[in-house]
Amino acid sequence: MTTPLRIAIAGLGTVGTGVVRLLAENKELIRTRAGRDIEITAICARDKNRDRGLDLGAYDWVDNPQALATRDDIDVVVELIGGSDEPALALTKTAMQNGKSLVTANKAMLAHHGAALAMMADEHTVMLGFEASVAGGIPAIKAIKDGLSANTIRSVYGILNGTCNYILTEMRRTGHDFVGILKQAQEKGYAEADPTFDIGGIDTAHKICLLAALCFGTHPDFDAISITGIEKINAEDIEFAEDFGYRIKLLGIATKDDHGALSVRVEPCLIDQSRPIAAVDDVYNAVLIQSDFAGRTLLTGRGAGQAPTASAVVADIIDIAKGIKLPVFGVAAKHLNTARNAAPEDIYARYYLRFTVQDKPGTIADISAILRDHNVSIKGLIQRSRDEDGGLVPVVMTTHRSRYGDISACATAIAALPAVSDGDPCVLRITDEV
Ligand code: NDP
Ligand code: HSE
Repeated sequence: MTTPLRIAIAGLGTVGTGVVRLLAENKELIRTRAGRDIEITAICARDKNRDRGLDLGAYDWVDNPQALATRDDIDVVVELIGGSDEPALALTKTAMQNGKSLVTANKAMLAHHGAALAMMADEHTVMLGFEASVAGGIPAIKAIKDGLSANTIRSVYGILNGTCNYILTEMRRTGHDFVGILKQAQEKGYAEADPTFDIGGIDTAHKICLLAALCFGTHPDFDAISITGIEKINAEDIEFAEDFGYRIKLLGIATKDDHGALSVRVEPCLIDQSRPIAAVDDVYNAVLIQSDFAGRTLLTGRGAGQAPTASAVVADIIDIAKGIKLPVFGVAAKHLNTARNAAPEDIYARYYLRFTVQDKPGTIADISAILRDHNVSIKGLIQRSRDEDGGLVPVVMTTHRSRYGDISACATAIAALPAVSDGDPCVLRITDEV
């Protein structure tokens, strides 16, 4: 008779309670697929008395997560507390140092400490599973590490934050701005403990950081990522984008150019409405990988929330039960490289620009003169006039393919014109590659 795999769960919030529920509801099926029972030995959260809607009486409760890392009756620690540092980090390190495999949904911790943790996993020959940390229920990490392992990957693009995708979708459907919609996303359990991580693009950056490491065999390098969130996008941008034939999506992007330089960034982008990824709405995520032999691989599914995230956590636990142990970022940690980063100003694309200007003679002429002087050509232009002259109106334009350094210089010069109202212009890239 095979011995059960004994696990401990630290963190019993949205994801942790989902894992307890899934292990119970699909117990028989999981036993058959894993080849052995998976038993929860101990659990831990902050507040023992909180009603979590589950009967947790059968499991040993501990107050300090660190205590789980050293117990002899635990094979695997499942870290679902969150946060890049303590207590999640100490728990992860101590568990692995004590020969335990570790499963986590914590992209923040891996984006900041992934290289050191991967070294530690290799040194102690344990598995560090993090399928749940990127794109919720989509098995994106397995697809890259395993299914696409024979390919040279050229780029990965992803809608990686369910909260932002839900907000942008609802803004488009309702015309509301994001504050009220964010509250709904929080109630559904999609948002991070600090939702500015979602809105500000940090959560997407954590995830694209991990995908870049997996796709290009590099150390996760969070500090090298250029990050723009969705804070500046208003309902009008979404409407204008629709008028031009686009959808706005927050994308995590990692590409390698012909000279081997990496560009890893997070930014709201305009995507042609005819592209499959433009139709990925609500809490759904998408990961598009372009590789030399497999070509374009597009994965979509639910990117956040209790059930899909629990599905990914338990998939890692089942792998451990089966004895599968792949290197954390697809290659032995000692073979991970340090990336050379491409200069952001040298990115060529088409762009969307929105300014708020005074509706008076000469304003558009002044703006176009600046664009002409920087060699930027206008493709489309919309000015929504009010009835009377002199009021503030949005001017929105799309450009032909231009260098980002030139676009950025134009945006600064245009913002300084007397007829342009205070506040940063909205500059978005139009992404044709997806
Ligand atoms: P929650 O905030 O819902 O749950 C966090 C849990 O950790 C709570 O049970 C909390 O205890 C416990 N906790 C916090 N601090 C401590 C501590 N010092 N000691 C012991 N327990 C502690 O978070 P989520 O479940 O949403 O997220 C967990 C992880 O999963 C995060 O890394 C998140 O980024 C990631 N993730 C979340 C997804 C989602 O859709 N929610 C999707 C993918 C990944 P208590 O309940 O007593 O307060
Ligand atoms: N807050 C994250 C999101 C959770 O909205 O996508 C999933 O990682």
